[in-house]
Amino acid sequence: MSLTQKAINLLVTGGCGFIGSNFIRLLLDRHSPLVPVRSVVNLDKLTYAGNLENLADIADDSRYRFVRGDIADTELVRRVLEENRIDAVVHFAAESHVDRSILDSSPFIQTNIVGTQVLLDASRAVGVDRFVQVSTDEVYGSLGEEGFFTEQTPLAPNSPYSASKASADLLVRSYYHTFDFPGIITRCSNNYGPYQFPEKLIPLFISNARNDRPLPVYGDGKNVRDWIHVSDHCAGVAQALLQGRPGEVYNFGGRSEWRNIELTEFLLDLLGKPKSLIQYVKDRLGHDLRYAIDCSKAESELNWSPQVTFKQGLKETVDWYLEHESWCARILSGDYRNYYYQQYGETLNQE
Ligand code: NAD
Ligand code: DAU
Repeated sequence: MSLTQKAINLLVTGGCGFIGSNFIRLLLDRHSPLVPVRSVVNLDKLTYAGNLENLADIADDSRYRFVRGDIADTELVRRVLEENRIDAVVHFAAESHVDRSILDSSPFIQTNIVGTQVLLDASRAVGVDRFVQVSTDEVYGSLGEEGFFTEQTPLAPNSPYSASKASADLLVRSYYHTFDFPGIITRCSNNYGPYQFPEKLIPLFISNARNDRPLPVYGDGKNVRDWIHVSDHCAGVAQALLQGRPGEVYNFGGRSEWRNIELTEFLLDLLGKPKSLIQYVKDRLGHDLRYAIDCSKAESELNWSPQVTFKQGLKETVDWYLEHESWCARILSGDYRNYYYQQYGETLNQE
């Protein structure tokens, strides 16, 4: 049974981050909204990664409401669900950066695991019709040179980040089996596109290259990631909400594998910058070699497929960052400076 096609009241968590803000913008599109919504409530704590500016263009939409708060706050979550008569939840809120989870895993355990448990309990108590847990291909661990992750691949997370996401996925799974809770899990590969926080590879390298600063490539640069445009991921999450079956997992990927070093060289070409900006640095601890997604289940069951080709999508993304220099500059001038220094040290410091 699919979610009824009536307009729904939707709670989106983490809507001020990269993917959540793109998702909400696409939900509120007047011409072809991803999901028929009556209202959208965005619950976001505004951590370093949350930015109200990401949704400044829709802040006045009467269907939209922002609530600043923590998904691990039991009373607040219960109140938000009840007061807004929420029918369904799409759960993006998370600590999302692998390198930060290596520096300190505690916020990952608190938000990604405890926060998900609080949301699940409150959602169960009010009886939501659907709960979409937005997860990651990183829960499957690492591939060698061959093969793909399917929904049957055993979970084998290798970083504190992916372990916390896998834990949350298992909680969702257990609520389905124990309580018949209508949870659905989506697992997506690496997203790129507008509004991504410039700690992640693509926006970080665009920002550094634009300012003629070194691009820190981890290890030998041969690690492979499967890149998907954020709009394709958002469309997949919407289809999972509307047509997905409770208890099921759906993988999304872009069928676009790139070695980090090849991607870096392509980016430099797009920006017209020299390869001499590439600087090999100490590898990430426990760095997964390769991710690649088999998304045929989503294609056949959800009538979904990735639409944006990587080369075109990356070109548009580069243009977006070049046109939104002040958006980047405001982020780079905040607390992010301290993190950059801790992660990359003296030589790559942005001062
Ligand atoms: P992001 O870091 O850009 O945004 C996370 C958002 O969650 C921020 O707005 C932050 O303020 C909010 N948040 C953090 N802790 C919170 C808390 N305790 N309570 C309420 N809000 C809180 O992350 P993203 O890249 O947009 O990722 C969104 C989701 O998608 C995550 O669950 C991530 O695991 C998943 N995902 C990301 C990718 C990717 O490539 N970025 C790929 C697959 C899955
Ligand atoms: O696969 C989905 C995951 O993709 C999401 O679950 C995560 O939230 C998201 O952050 C992303 O994780 P990655 O660790 O793959 O993304 P990141 O952009 O941090 O790194 C991409 C690759 O680039 C990875 O192999 C590490 C490498 N890298 C990254 C940075 C930040 C570098 O070589 N240098 C860098 O400075």
